[in-house]
Amino acid sequence: MIENQGSDKQKIVTIFDDIYNLEDCSAYFRAMDHAGFRTAHHAVAGFRKTRDALARLRGLEAVNVMDFASGYGIAAALMRHDMTLDDVLGRYRDTWFDQASAAKVIAADAKWYGSHRRRDMKDSFAGLDIADRALSYGCDVGIFDAAFAEDLQANAASESLQRWLAECDLIVECGSVAHMLPGALARVLDAAKRHPWVITAPIRGNDTAEAIEVMQSRGMVVEVLDVPPFRHRRFADADEQARAIANARARDHETDGLESEGYFHAQLYLARPRDEAGTVVNWL
Ligand SMILES: C[S@@+](CC[C@H](N)C(=O)[O-])C[C@H]1O[C@@H](n2cnc3c(N)ncnc32)[C@H](O)[C@@H]1O
Repeated sequence: MIENQGSDKQKIVTIFDDIYNLEDCSAYFRAMDHAGFRTAHHAVAGFRKTRDALARLRGLEAVNVMDFASGYGIAAALMRHDMTLDDVLGRYRDTWFDQASAAKVIAADAKWYGSHRRRDMKDSFAGLDIADRALSYGCDVGIFDAAFAEDLQANAASESLQRWLAECDLIVECGSVAHMLPGALARVLDAAKRHPWVITAPIRGNDTAEAIEVMQSRGMVVEVLDVPPFRHRRFADADEQARAIANARARDHETDGLESEGYFHAQLYLARPRDEAGTVVNWL
């Protein structure tokens, strides 16, 4: 486990990197369950509404969605299927998963997701992450139609990723890393020819100016959506809480009753092209 990609200066979030790239997702979701992980629940409610508003505005029957830093694909999974975060977290509490091989988990999960696919859903989902095994899991169980194991913070996008991004309509991100990867965000947006909307769920204190500048400099209006800050996960320890409170306060966030209660809190940022940045009051 490392912290904030090893940067001493910028320690905010404990990164569970030892479980980000396993052959199946069960250890990851058990750890998230244990950590009181809630972001995907709140964020995906906003992602679904954003997707519907975008489809309405552009007259799209199907939307091409990129799950940025997707890991095993919880954002795409909850958008594509009739299920909740609690369904996913609850599933891996079953002791069957203690001994099951990755192949067995993948087969069982493929069946499970297959039986929960939203009937009206024609959207296409892709995962982008550096975690190649997590992405393979997401493809094998039917969460993703395509996946790209690439580090756009370090390298240009492959041709196949550029082709996919050229037709991307919506970028979603719910693990609070997009704002820490401004270089990757810039490469994604530069390859995207349809001017996708971007909705992210950064932890308060993690909402960096650099990522926001990347979006604004490409003609996007970036807004913090008017939904109350929501729980991301429980703090691992008192040090993490103290750092989180200091970081949130440094960005002028009021932390009493929020981070003071023992949880990271996140919020939703929406970025849209200037000519589409109308009011969100009626659809959120
Ligand atoms: C906190 S996890 C969130 C995963 C997923 N969105 C979720 O909510 O379960 C952060 C993810 O960022 C990924 N990541 C880290 N650096 C990355 C990079 N340069 N490009 C893409 N993904 C990256 C990690 O592999 C990990 O899957």
